[in-house]
Amino acid sequence: MARLHATDGVTPTTGVTGVTIAVTGASGFCGGEVARAAAARGAEVLCVGRRPGPVGRHLSWDAATEPPDLGGADLVVHCAAAVGDHPPGSPAEAEQYAVNVAGTARLLAAAAGRPVVWVSSASVYDPRLDRSRVAEEHPSAGGQLNAYGRSKAAGERLALAAGAVVLRPRAVYGTGDPHLLPRVLARVRRGLLLLPGADVSLSLTAVQNLADACLAAAGWPPGAYNIADAEPYRRDEVLRRLLAAHGVRARIGHVPLPLVRLARRRSPELTPYAVDQLASSVVLDTAKARAQGWRPTHDLADYLARCR
Ligand SMILES: NC(=O)c1ccc[n+]([C@@H]2O[C@H](COP(=O)([O-])OP(=O)(O)OC[C@H]3O[C@@H](n4cnc5c(N)ncnc54)[C@H](OP(=O)(O)O)[C@@H]3O)[C@@H](O)[C@H]2O)c1
Repeated sequence: MARLHATDGVTPTTGVTGVTIAVTGASGFCGGEVARAAAARGAEVLCVGRRPGPVGRHLSWDAATEPPDLGGADLVVHCAAAVGDHPPGSPAEAEQYAVNVAGTARLLAAAAGRPVVWVSSASVYDPRLDRSRVAEEHPSAGGQLNAYGRSKAAGERLALAAGAVVLRPRAVYGTGDPHLLPRVLARVRRGLLLLPGADVSLSLTAVQNLADACLAAAGWPPGAYNIADAEPYRRDEVLRRLLAAHGVRARIGHVPLPLVRLARRRSPELTPYAVDQLASSVVLDTAKARAQGWRPTHDLADYLARCR
């Protein structure tokens, strides 16, 4: 991958003034934040996707079917993905491969050597091995618990082979999050939030920290980088504070894991992936990104303060 250097306008401190950045997935949560941050720092933004982004010019692209027009972009930040935890064999699963793998191949071909920052996920890490401290070398060749994880792992293999910078955030939160918070709130029943297993340590990623990394990473050596807040959180404490910040009065209860496995038959939403997200300690080691000068500057306390 051709690297952008400070003289090209991309550094963590000077921002991206004068650089044209194509952002895919800008109509979504993370891509929208990347597009806004890029525009605020002086970049010209091209939002490449099925729907326009919050800023910049829209270039229409359906990642599942066609190659993208990347306009005159100097740099591509690829946030678009088909996300979700779908039933095996469903059309939504096939869509995940079409977007996350075939769509990535189309994007990399169109980038034609331009720097690409490819937003991946900690879901690529093999969950069969201990993830209480996960560095980038942790295996990602298999074991993922759903088609989302498998298709993200396959997509990032293509991106890495093409010399892209691949970022692996975990559980991105922030204003406008359409995934995590709604899922938590939906699990509250009669003033009780039941959680699988005992309390665990979890890395989370503030959406602003991810956006900062996306804009800084074009100058980093190709490869994979974990992106998370400075410190891991305790699951139960995070959820208690989230519920309180959103005005939801609920107690937290714990369900032993063997019972959760039994309950799966009656509760299809208790997929192996959903349970793993809440019941396994997953802490990302971000030393590799920090060695490039990146620092997470936002945390959950900032977000909760804004919710009040
Ligand atoms: N949120 C998290 O907790 C989290 C954690 C780790 C990694 N990530 C990664 O972060 C990235 C962004 O996720 P997100 O949370 O922002 O999800 P999101 O809000 O659902 O956004 C997904 C984006 O992908 C676009 N997209 C989906 N299918 C497409 C297609 N066929 N053609 C073109 N664009 C398509 C969507 O466009 P439409 O508006 O047209 O649907 C949307 O802009 C993804 O790569 C995801 O794997 C997210």
